[in-house]
Amino acid sequence: MNILIVLAHPERKSFNGALVDTAIEALEEGNHQVRINDLYAEKFDPVENASWYPDRTNTDFFSPLTEQARQFKANQLSPDVNREISKLNWADLVIFQFPLWWHAQPAILKGWFDRVFVYGGLYSGSMRYDRGYFKGKKAMCSITTGSPEHTFTHFGRAGNIVEWLWPIHSSLNYVGYNVLPPNVSYGVQGGGIQYQEKAKFEAQLETQKATWASRLSTIEQEEPIPFTGWSDWDDTGILKHDHPMRWRP
Ligand SMILES: Cc1cc2nc3c(=O)[nH]c(=O)nc-3n(C[C@H](O)[C@H](O)[C@H](O)COP(=O)(O)O)c2cc1C
Repeated sequence: MNILIVLAHPERKSFNGALVDTAIEALEEGNHQVRINDLYAEKFDPVENASWYPDRTNTDFFSPLTEQARQFKANQLSPDVNREISKLNWADLVIFQFPLWWHAQPAILKGWFDRVFVYGGLYSGSMRYDRGYFKGKKAMCSITTGSPEHTFTHFGRAGNIVEWLWPIHSSLNYVGYNVLPPNVSYGVQGGGIQYQEKAKFEAQLETQKATWASRLSTIEQEEPIPFTGWSDWDDTGILKHDHPMRWRP
């Protein structure tokens, strides 16, 4: 497979960076083609705003969706967005590597979604979910958390990881990707709050790298997270009345 790793961490020598190195080694061993997209290194500007659209339809009122669609249609996307889309077009699997920051992805990656998933080009009313632009391709998140694993379990103080990742997983599904279950490396205390002594922590990091490498060795066979699709919904976008997933009438 062609595999693109999108890294959203300001320090290449961080544990997130190490997980990228682990992934490159494991995937190349499995004869995959791997490319890295280091958003901080390339100084990707994640802030969607009017300055990206010099040729506006309406200069009195900035509508991002209108301008994105117009710019895409006119083949005038800004060069950085074009470059990102080409990388995505190349990839059969995209891995997003990032630390959990405030229960979500770092802002640079959120803004990358805002700018790169161009309305009228990479999604539209009729081109989304299981009819999405990236239909047939896969994406997944590999994340690190500061809090340890047990705090993310039921009633744990760190909350529910499925819920924290729901927005990014939903966005990936929205543009058509089959979303593989995430790789979560918990308790990466880094320069922050310490949960265990140094030697134990370092051993944990080694185990987490090995777990990631081992998972990647069979990544091609993995099944995606199930999402509902167009045939499951009625005309208003609600799960059909007799759908087996409905838990009440
Ligand atoms: C701005 C910021 C916000 C953070 N928010 C969270 C959080 O919501 N939950 C959590 O478990 N850890 C949080 N952390 C801790 C990071 O997830 C942790 O430092 C990172 O995963 C360690 O990986 P690294 O060594 O590669 O940076 C946060 C760290 C920063 C800098």
